[in-house]
Amino acid sequence: MEVIIRDDATAAVNLTARLIAEAMHKKPSTVLGLATGRTMEAVYAELARLHQEEKLDFSLAKTFNLDEYIGLPPENKNSYRYYMNYHLFKNVNIDLRNTHLPNGIADNIDLECENYEKLIAECGGIDLQLLGIGRDGHIGFNEPLSALRSRTRSKSLTPVTFAQNSPLFDRPEDMPKRAITMGVGTVLESKRVLMLVVGEEKSSILAKAVEGPVTSMISATALQLHPRCTVIVDEAAASKLKEKDYYHWIFNNEPDWDPYR
Ligand code: GLP
Repeated sequence: MEVIIRDDATAAVNLTARLIAEAMHKKPSTVLGLATGRTMEAVYAELARLHQEEKLDFSLAKTFNLDEYIGLPPENKNSYRYYMNYHLFKNVNIDLRNTHLPNGIADNIDLECENYEKLIAECGGIDLQLLGIGRDGHIGFNEPLSALRSRTRSKSLTPVTFAQNSPLFDRPEDMPKRAITMGVGTVLESKRVLMLVVGEEKSSILAKAVEGPVTSMISATALQLHPRCTVIVDEAAASKLKEKDYYHWIFNNEPDWDPYR
C-alpha cells in the first residue's frame, strides 16, 4: 500500500483523476471499476473536464460499478445507475453498452450477482478499481463481517450507512436497506486499486483502514493485502495517521517514486 497525502481535497481529487486518465492513455480499452458517493462527484467532474478539454477518450473503456441499491430502478434519482449517467457517462464519449452496474430490480438477485462476476471475468477482470470509504469502513457496500474473500452478493446495510446515505434521498425513509455489492474478494482481484479519502470526518476510519489490523469488521483493511493499492488523501483525512511523516518522507525522498508507473 502507498499513501499519498495532498494539501487539500482538490489536489487529491485531481491526482486521482490524473492517475485514471494515465491508465486510460496507456490502455484505451481499460476496464475501470467505479465507485459512487459524494467524494467521487469531483473526480467524475474532473474526468469530464479532461475529456472535454484534453480529449481523454472513453470510447473503448468498459466500466463496472461496485454496487447498486436493491429495489431502485435505473431512472430513480437515487439509484447508482442514475448517479453514474448524471455525473460521468453523459459527459464523456463512453458507449453506454460498455457501462455496467448490478441490476437492483432483477427478479433473481442471486443470479444477477453470479452473472455480474461472470461478466467482469469475460472482460478480462478490472484493470483499475476506484474506491471511496464509508463511515463504517466499507468499500462498495461490504459492511462489517463481510468475508475477506466474498464475491458479488446482496448485503444488508448498517444503521451507520443508513445515516450516511439516507440524507441524499428526498424522503430518507425511502433509502433501501439492502444492496448488491461486489465482494471484498472481487475488489482484491482488480489489478490496481486507487482509494480516495478526503475530509476530517474520515480521518479515524482511514487510520484504522490503513494502519489497523486486517479485519472483516472493516472491509477497507483488506486493501492491505492488495499488491498494488494507492491511497490518496488530503491533509484533513490524513490527520490521524500515525506514520504520516513517513508517508510524506517517502514521497519527498524516493527518487524513483512515480505514481504513474
Ligand atoms: C457509498 C458507496 C461507497 C462509497 C461511500 C462513500 O456508501 N457504496 O462505495 O465509498 O458511499 O460516500 P461519500 O463519498 O459520500 O462519503
